Amino acid sequence: APGSPALTPPLGWNSWNSFGCGITEAQVRQAADAMVSSGMRDAGYRYVVVDDCWFDPQRDARGNLRAHPTKFPSGMKALGDYIHGKGLKFGIYQAPNERTCAQATGGYPGSTGSKGHEAQDAAAFASWGVDYLKYDWCSSSGTRDEQVARFTLMRDALRATGRPIVYSINPNSLHAITGATYDWGEVADLWRTTEDLLDIWQNGNTNSYPMGVGNVLDVTAPLAAQSGPGHFNDPDMLVVGRPGLSLTESRSHFALWALLGAPLMAGNDIRTMSADVSAVLRNPRLLAVNQDPLGAGGRRVRDDGATEVFAKPLSDGSVAVGLFNRGSGAATVSASAAQVGLSGGSFTLTDLWTGGTSSTSGQISANVPAHGVAVYRVSGGSPLAATTSRLRGGASGRC
Ligand code: GLA
Repeated sequence: APGSPALTPPLGWNSWNSFGCGITEAQVRQAADAMVSSGMRDAGYRYVVVDDCWFDPQRDARGNLRAHPTKFPSGMKALGDYIHGKGLKFGIYQAPNERTCAQATGGYPGSTGSKGHEAQDAAAFASWGVDYLKYDWCSSSGTRDEQVARFTLMRDALRATGRPIVYSINPNSLHAITGATYDWGEVADLWRTTEDLLDIWQNGNTNSYPMGVGNVLDVTAPLAAQSGPGHFNDPDMLVVGRPGLSLTESRSHFALWALLGAPLMAGNDIRTMSADVSAVLRNPRLLAVNQDPLGAGGRRVRDDGATEVFAKPLSDGSVAVGLFNRGSGAATVSASAAQVGLSGGSFTLTDLWTGGTSSTSGQISANVPAHGVAVYRVSGGSPLAATTSRLRGGASGRC
């Protein structure tokens, strides 16, 4: 949204995918410790987000939210101080309705959503040092206008605190896939484009819960023009390193989310992740593509069925290219320089997995294993005026 504290996609960790409603203060502190010891902080990850189920199921006599007394015994201010002490930022979860998602679906008692308490809750968050709010509709009732009004109310309440707080919303429980096509860029800094992503590679052609990597990709890729500095499509938290994906699939998911210019919120248990998974999350070349200041959302520039090509223009005139093989056997995936928005006769390809370089006179091509992605930074040509302005679309003018 205008004035956003997040000019590049937020990088962090969120408790939900690994801990769900069982999350405790001890686990959040350990995750903050792991952000540092794993090298994620030094790679650029900042936000430690406590998702649903952190709160006492009853507000106090004055209507104030408070931490759950046994799950978060030190309280949220102390937890925020701990996270800040590690050089990290503190994120929290709430809902614009009467109930949070876990309360609405019966997984947690009480009725402590922010409806009618927006200013009070925003002030509490600011006083605890919150830097990021995930605000989750999670109700099948309401209209689009009510949704816009209620999400705007919290935007304004956060602004009124004077503290910069990244505002992350999920409008998709009400309007399913149409929620993604409303441009929330005036209201929020990031907005979910789909229902929840689980550690599933592809769940048929579903657009409803639970979605796989391919399903979320198919909804989000056409929305690239909506993304730019301070306003990002959010294809949900990462399932990199979760048990349902192979290492190849985790790598592809990470590379594709990096190319989309998506927020990268790890959802695995970073306290116990393998060295391989840690290396995927910390890949400096893919993180640089994701964090490129131009902020262009990557686009699908070729769709040949089982194979697809993604291109994300970068601020130095180079283009990041993903050669994606969705099929069940190895395949050669190719694109021309012109198809990714470059003209000229000689290019340097930097392999973003390895950092190795090669040269080409125009063809970008790789043999890609099943479910794999080859990713390159293509530099040395000149941007093709027409294609580049189309590719850069969403990055211009808004902020
Ligand atoms: C919804 C959201 C998830 C998570 C849960 C918490 O399902 O989409 O990301 O926040 O609620 O209950």
